[in-house]
Amino acid sequence: MGTYVPSRRRTRALAVTPVLSVLALLAAVPAAAQGVPEGAKLFSERCASCHTVGQGDRVGPDLMGVLKRREESWVTSFLKSPGAMIDGGDPVAGELIKKFNGVRMPDQQLSDDERKGLFAFFRDCTEKGSCQPGATGPKLASDATPEELEHGRQLFEGQVALANGGPACIGCHDVRGIGVVGGGTLARDLTFSFARLGERKMTPALKEMSFPLMKELYEKAPLTEAEQFELKAYLANVSRDGTPPRKDRDFFYLGFVGLGVALGFIGIVLGGRGRAKD
Ligand code: HEC
Ligand code: HEC
Repeated sequence: MGTYVPSRRRTRALAVTPVLSVLALLAAVPAAAQGVPEGAKLFSERCASCHTVGQGDRVGPDLMGVLKRREESWVTSFLKSPGAMIDGGDPVAGELIKKFNGVRMPDQQLSDDERKGLFAFFRDCTEKGSCQPGATGPKLASDATPEELEHGRQLFEGQVALANGGPACIGCHDVRGIGVVGGGTLARDLTFSFARLGERKMTPALKEMSFPLMKELYEKAPLTEAEQFELKAYLANVSRDGTPPRKDRDFFYLGFVGLGVALGFIGIVLGGRGRAKD
């Protein structure tokens, strides 16, 4: 009896094999057609040390819209051998190496599929107007879950504290509808900021916070990546959605937040002055 069992197992395994390979084929077809996630992964592994897509030039050019400004065939040849293009006198390649201080992009060994994946990724970024390669989670404001949106609102209003101890946004900013009770009026109402700045400018704005007053405060207490994302999603939602945020917050609480912000700010200004004199 003991010898009978393994042989039955083997039969079952054999029966399953063709099913698995059909499944693998089915899964492979859409992946090859799209290729965006593969392209994003490849980009972060092999290109991101020198390039961004939408975050500006680094060692090499920002590749946002590269397939719009260049022919696909040109980019294909360039990827195969940037050196050959430069030495062969290609005028565009010549301009690029001049602009990038003579740094030569290394030749890239890419299979056709890898190159197609990269191109799909570049096109996808251009369509969305921004890309954060390497990031696994959702990054566009429109990808936020209802929980992330709600958390963004709570962070904005100070119901949930910011991880690094920064002041709640509402101490200085209002958004539509909160004003009745007294969201901050020290700075701009942010209701339409996302509509005005868009995904491309809002993302770095929340990362760098390089606005007057905010810079000093958040330099010492930066927003985490998750907070940047959730606040962005919240502001995107506010600018899109006509309904005002909740009104059931109390005066005392808001006064408290505002006071905290003011005290924190005074502290930082005084602290900064003291250090400057040293
Ligand atoms: C070591 C740095 C480095 C790496 C890694 C690198 N590049 Fe580059 N890339 C450059 C530089 C520098 C240039 C500008 C041309 C030059 O000086 O060679 C450039 C130019 C380009 C251009 C032309 C851009 C334009 O505006 O026309 C493309 C396309 C490109 N790189 C794609 C890639 C891809 C895709 C990868 C990854 C598979 C990659 N690069 C990896 C440094 C790099
Ligand atoms: C100490 C006051 C203060 C706090 C707290 C504060 N900000 Fe600001 N913020 C400002 C000022 C001042 C500006 C410059 C624009 C203006 O004139 O209002 C600004 C500008 C901005 C802008 C650009 C607006 C636009 O449309 O150009 C954004 C976005 C922004 N803040 C988001 C936030 C977020 C998110 C928080 C909370 C994490 C926050 N701010 C907290 C004072 C503050």
